[in-house]
Amino acid sequence: MNTHLHITAWVLALILLLVVVILHKQGKAKGAKITQMILRLDYLLILYSGGSLLGMFFSGPNVTMAIIKTLAGIWTIAAIEMVGIKTVKDKPAGGMWIQLVVALVVTLILGFVVL
Ligand code: HEM
Repeated sequence: MNTHLHITAWVLALILLLVVVILHKQGKAKGAKITQMILRLDYLLILYSGGSLLGMFFSGPNVTMAIIKTLAGIWTIAAIEMVGIKTVKDKPAGGMWIQLVVALVVTLILGFVVL
C-alpha cells in the first residue's frame, strides 16, 4: 500500500516536472508556476510515503540501506526542485538535469535492486 503510494508519488513528480518544462517552453508562465506549486505538494507525499516505509525498515535488518536509500531519495527531490527553478527562471538547466538523472538512477537502484 505504502509502496504503491510511494511509487505513484515520485512518478507523478517526474510527470509534473515535465509539465512545468513544457508549459514554460510554450510561454505559459502562470501555468508553469501553478504546476510547480502542485509539484511541491507532491514532495510531501513522497516524503510521507517514504518516511513510513523507512519506519517499517527500522524494525528490520536493512535499516542502514533504507537510510542510504532515503538520503538518495531526498537528493532526487532536491534535483527535481532545482531543475524546476532553473527552468522557470530561464537559466540553463543542463547541469541540473544531469544531476537529476544520476540521483534518480542511484535512488532507483537502491530502491528496486538493493533493498
Ligand atoms: C524522487 C524521489 C524518490 C524515488 C525516485 C524513490 C524510489 C523508490 C523506489 C523505486 C523504491 C522501491 C519500491 C519497491 O520496493 O517496490 C523505494 C522505496 C523506499 N523509499 Fe523511496 N524514492 C524517493 C524518495 C524517497 C524519500 C524522500 C524517502 C524518505 C523520506 C524514501 C524512502 C524509501 C524507503 C524507506 C523505501 C523502502 C525500501 C524498499 O521498499 O525497497 N524514498 N523508493
